[in-house]
Amino acid sequence: MNTTYQPIEWLGDRVKILDQTKLPGEEVYLETRDYRDVAIAIKELKVRGAPAIGVAGAYGIAVGALGIKVEIREEFLKELETVIETIVGTRPTARNLFYAAERMEKVVRQAHHKAAEVGRNVAAIKRALVDEAIRIHRDEEEATRKLSELGAELIKDGSTILTHCNTGPLATTGYGTALGVIIRAKEQGKKIKVYADETRPLLQGARLTAWELMKAGVPCTLITDSMAGYFMSRGEIDCAIVGADRIAANGDTANKIGTYTVAVLAKEHGIPFYVAAPTTTIDLSIASGKEIPIEQRSREEVAYFAGICVTPEDCEISNPAFDVTPAKYITAIITERGIMRAPYGEGMGKSSHR
Ligand code: MRU
Repeated sequence: MNTTYQPIEWLGDRVKILDQTKLPGEEVYLETRDYRDVAIAIKELKVRGAPAIGVAGAYGIAVGALGIKVEIREEFLKELETVIETIVGTRPTARNLFYAAERMEKVVRQAHHKAAEVGRNVAAIKRALVDEAIRIHRDEEEATRKLSELGAELIKDGSTILTHCNTGPLATTGYGTALGVIIRAKEQGKKIKVYADETRPLLQGARLTAWELMKAGVPCTLITDSMAGYFMSRGEIDCAIVGADRIAANGDTANKIGTYTVAVLAKEHGIPFYVAAPTTTIDLSIASGKEIPIEQRSREEVAYFAGICVTPEDCEISNPAFDVTPAKYITAIITERGIMRAPYGEGMGKSSHR
């Protein structure tokens, strides 16, 4: 798939990020050498979607390392710790961010264990961190390309597919997860149609999924989140497919708030419900979805619609950004290493990154 837009690009000494909060109205890019700008971009969802957050986080650590002025190794490592803490402190749910940070930390440790002159050389560590961030980027692109190819086999010709949130190239820097599967199925010549949930409160479906599907030439109808049951009950949906922010060892899956509702509705209507995610989203260190940290975001995101307050002032508001879909509602999990079906435990161990 060739897109005309790049959500994240490495420019040798700085990172370029497409500001997704301005889409679809404007294509505005942010270029920075400051890791704090990258942290803000992740926090404010200028760059978003689990794999893209991981890639942005890796580049954030890389620019942070390049910006450290001290030459003494111990002092450099201390400052680097602050950079990494700032980056991983941005959003708690997507596993990919922590996975990327762990890979970057490993590179620093390996540099330490190499020959003394290399290990002690701050410039060499900086170079190793930049190289690793580029590799993390490439690996995520490759993983989503593969999983899209595998997942497309599950999509029957003539299907109408429901999706939630945004899981395309914008969310992954690569092919996409759920949207990658859909777009690949279309590229294979299958006649498919998509119902896209608008995805309140930040409208990733309305603003981003509709935009990406239209660019990819996939017929798409936008619906509000509460309409999904209506279309399922009329027999108009053949399958549902979503991405993931974190998958526990038992297959429980955290994804954008509202995903759980779609999964329960799908089960009630006998519709397959698929999750598509690279293995970097799987977290084997936690047994079940109960342990997945769920990000709570500001009341303003719910209270305001296009800059206008739509609630009574001081009205009590709750805004969890994700929910957990228990594995029993998930027909299959599509990864770059294969398609897994319940019971997930054992297969997950074989196919995931540790
Ligand atoms: O809050 P967001 O926009 O970062 O949430 C994104 C999602 O929930 C996606 O569905 C998920 O990250 C999978 S993206 C390939």
